[in-house]
Amino acid sequence: MSTEFPMPFLHHGHTGLMLEDVSLDLIAARFGTPTFVYSHAALADAFGQYEQALAGSNARVFYAVKANSNLGVLSAFARLGAGFDIVSGGELSRVIAAGGDPAKVVFSGVGKSTAEMLQALHAGIRCFNVESAAELDRLNTVARDSSTVAPVALRVNPDVDAKTHPYISTGLRNNKFGVAFDEALALYRRAATLPDLRVSGVACHIGSQLLDPAPIAEAAEKILGLVDRLAAEGIVLDHIDLGGGLGIRYRDETPPSVAEYLAPLLRLLQGRREEICFEPGRSLIGNAGLLLTRIEYLKPGMERNFAIVDAAMNDLARPALYDAYHEVVAVTQHDMPAREYEVVGPICESGDFLARGRSLSVRQGDLLAILSAGAYGMTMSSNYNTRPRAAEVMVMGKEVHLVRVREPVGSLYALESRLPGS
Ligand code: LLP
Repeated sequence: MSTEFPMPFLHHGHTGLMLEDVSLDLIAARFGTPTFVYSHAALADAFGQYEQALAGSNARVFYAVKANSNLGVLSAFARLGAGFDIVSGGELSRVIAAGGDPAKVVFSGVGKSTAEMLQALHAGIRCFNVESAAELDRLNTVARDSSTVAPVALRVNPDVDAKTHPYISTGLRNNKFGVAFDEALALYRRAATLPDLRVSGVACHIGSQLLDPAPIAEAAEKILGLVDRLAAEGIVLDHIDLGGGLGIRYRDETPPSVAEYLAPLLRLLQGRREEICFEPGRSLIGNAGLLLTRIEYLKPGMERNFAIVDAAMNDLARPALYDAYHEVVAVTQHDMPAREYEVVGPICESGDFLARGRSLSVRQGDLLAILSAGAYGMTMSSNYNTRPRAAEVMVMGKEVHLVRVREPVGSLYALESRLPGS
């Protein structure tokens, strides 16, 4: 495994940059660009780190589907034994289509519709992570009307600062997520009286791309206090869900390892009877994927040089949305002086950039790999500018599996119609 890149199975080979045993040049020739390329070894390795750290404890991993919901990815995690954290009926359908077990699904999110509740109840999911009093009432009604009992956890907002980007910080009092810590006890008491619900657990998720394990440990302590208080009142929970959030290296961050992140939590939880659940997304798939793109044009300028590539903000929104940094690596290395480039896409927005001020030694027609794009890449993509979504492939050793074909343009307007008479 190379440490030159944040992605564990990426390395320079004799035919340029390679992911596992496959050259990216070959992938571009076979499938075109832009294409998301995932490494099965990398996702299995990341999952293995959780399994290893949790070995011997009563804990389970629910992969956060929103990070990357491709059926190839979901089926890989299902085969590895993961459960799934979903936020929509659509994600539940994907999990089932990928061979995931609905009994190992937890359903998060602030806006579950009646139809989504019904779908999840019929599928027999493990737990609804309820985020408000109004949602609790709706779920009770839906369960009653369909003569079932809904398993619930309250997602409690522990009011701790996750110290991450404000757009992906979710555990502060002023966020829309979860039930306020001070209101949780009263809502649990009410939930316990509702006949069509079974109070089963507690959940929290304080934010994403966390680089410091202290805030989640602080949140866990608060949550445990609540669990014990509830038990004293006879409301006994069977699981504690501590969400996802562990960060990854994009540039020069030094996130804790999975084991370092989990150690303080496992210490706190040692000897407890409840099952412990985690909902990681980014740390399982982020550094398993890259976006492969080709340089259409080089456009030198007085102030800035532009490398105009065939991927854009519609494929990878994170730079435009969060000013996020993704490493950019030329697939073929040339012996010529490097220049500083803005790596931009063809979309009509100044915000359409993938990387800024990168020193690259490249020619028109060269391939670039935009690294660490496995999480929140394809799932946040759009068809803006009527751009078909990229293809997705999964590398497994020497093999490459096409796990999503490039969208045909016609499919982008197949659901639309002309006005009558036109
Ligand atoms: N559980 C819940 C309830 C969540 O809301 C999330 C992420 C996760 C688990 C997984 O978190 P992770 O382990 O991936 O940090 N689009 C943003 C990230 C949004 C995260 C939303 N919630 C980005 O590209 O950075």
